[in-house]
Amino acid sequence: MSEPRLVFIKTYGCQMNVYDSDRMADILAAEGYSTAERPEDADLVLLNTCHIREKAAEKVYSEIGRLRALKKSARTDGRDMRIAVAGCVAQAEGEEILKRAPAVDVVVGPQSYHRLPALLARGARAVETEFPAESKFDHLPERGTAAPGPTRVLPLQPVSAFLTVQEGCDKFCTFCVVPYTRGAEVSRPVARIVEEAEALAARGVKDIMLLGQNVNAYHGEGPDGETWSLAKLLTRLSQIDAIARLRYTTSHPRDMSDDLIAAHRDLDKVMPYLHLPVQSGSDRVLAAMNRKHDRAFYLQLVERLRAARPDLALSGDFIVGFPGETDEDFDHTMQLIEKVRYASAFSFKYSPRPGTPAAEREQVPDVVKAERLTRLQALIAEQQRDFNAGMRGLTTDVLLEKPGKHPGQLVGKSPWLQAVQVDAPRALLGEIVTVTITGIGTHSLYGALADGNAHERAIA
Ligand code: SAH
Ligand code: SF4
Ligand code: F3S
Repeated sequence: MSEPRLVFIKTYGCQMNVYDSDRMADILAAEGYSTAERPEDADLVLLNTCHIREKAAEKVYSEIGRLRALKKSARTDGRDMRIAVAGCVAQAEGEEILKRAPAVDVVVGPQSYHRLPALLARGARAVETEFPAESKFDHLPERGTAAPGPTRVLPLQPVSAFLTVQEGCDKFCTFCVVPYTRGAEVSRPVARIVEEAEALAARGVKDIMLLGQNVNAYHGEGPDGETWSLAKLLTRLSQIDAIARLRYTTSHPRDMSDDLIAAHRDLDKVMPYLHLPVQSGSDRVLAAMNRKHDRAFYLQLVERLRAARPDLALSGDFIVGFPGETDEDFDHTMQLIEKVRYASAFSFKYSPRPGTPAAEREQVPDVVKAERLTRLQALIAEQQRDFNAGMRGLTTDVLLEKPGKHPGQLVGKSPWLQAVQVDAPRALLGEIVTVTITGIGTHSLYGALADGNAHERAIA
C-alpha cells in the first residue's frame, strides 16, 4: 500500500449515487485513501454526478470551475490535486468532459468505477465509460472499509443503509436519460445481496432500503438456481433477525406484481411506504411518455395496494410541462393526485435531455411549467400535511438514528418514513422505541417515549 492520501467525495443525484459513493470510498480505502472533510485538503476530489435534469448536470461544471482554482493553489504549494468525475454525467458525456474541463483527470461511468484505481494509476488523463462485460459488484471490496480522515471525528455507526439490488432500466420513458447512463436492467444474485445485508446487520444496521432504478423488476438468480422476484428476496431478507425494517425504491407501476403487493400484507418487516411514480395523470401524456400504463391502471393498482396494506404511505414523482401537455392534461394530473392522496411526492419541470425522444418535441413555455409546478406542489404539500396530521396521538415504532435539533432530542424514522424528533437519552441511539406522536411540524413529527420503553432499561 502506498502513502496515506485523502479523497473528498461530493455526491449529486439519487440514492444509488449515495450507495456508489460509499463503494468508491471503499475501493479507494484499499488504495490507502481516507476521506477528507473539505476539498482543499484532498489529493483526489471525486464528483459523483447526476444527469437527470439540465440543472443537475450544469452544477457539475460550475463545481469543476471552483475546483480548478483549488487545484492551482495546491500546485503552488507543491501538492498535486486530482479531479475525477464519476456517475451519470461521466457516462453521458465521457470524453466531452475532458475537452470542456481541462482540470479533470479521470472520467468514469457508473458501471465501471471498480476500475478507478487502475485509471488513477495510469497518471495520464483517462476515460472509462464502456459498459464492461463483468459486473462491478464482483470487484468491490468488503463494505464499510473506508476510513475517516485524520481531521474527522468518527461518525456514528449508521443504523440505516442503502443496498443496490438491481441497476439500469429497459423502460425508455421518452424524457429519461437513465437507460442510457445506467444501461440495461441487471439484477444481482440473491446470495450476494443476502451476504451484504448480513454484513450490514453485523455492523448494527437495522433498516435497509433496497435500491434499483426499477427495483420491482428485480429478477435475480436465487440459491436454488431459479429466478427470484423482489417479493421472494424480501421474504429471504426478512429472515435476517437483526434487520427490522425493509423498504425498496424506485418502483415502476407496471412491475408491481401480485406477490409484491401480497408482501406488503404478509411481511411485517416490509414497511408501509412505497414510492410509486406516475409522472402524469393524463392518458395522452402517459402514452407520449411511453410509460406503458394508463391512469386507470395506476389508480387500480393503488386500490389493490391499499387493500393489502391500508395504512400504506404513497409517494410519487411528477413531471409538469412535458411536451404537448395542455391545461386539460395538467388538470387530469391534479385530479389523479386528489384521488390518490399522497404522503409525499417529488415534482419537476420537464427538462429536455439530449438524446432522448421528447427533447426533440415542441416545448411548453417555462412560465407555464412554473405555474403548474407551483399549483401541483401546493396540493402535494396540503396532502402531506394531512397525512402527517393524521399521526397525532398515535403510538408507533421509531428507529432513533441521529442526535436531534436540540439537546436531549434524537431524530428517528417512523414506519412511514417520516422524521420524528423525540425527547430521548443518547443511550437510545440506534434503538427502535415506542413513541407517542405529540406534535406535527412542517418537516418532522414530534414525539415522546411511550411508557415501558427500552429507555427505562437504558437509563437504569
Ligand atoms: N426509475 C425511476 C425514476 C428515476 S429518475 C422511475 O422510473 O420512476 C427520478 C425522477 O426524475 C423521475 O421519476 C422523473 O419524475 C424525474 N425526471 C426524469 N427525467 C426527467 C426530465 N427529463 N425532466 C424532469 N424530470 C425528470
Ligand atoms: Fe427513467 Fe422511465 Fe426507466 Fe424510470 S422507468 S428510470 S423514468 S426510463
Ligand atoms: Fe441522476 Fe443517474 Fe441517479 S441521472 S437520478 S444519478 S441514475
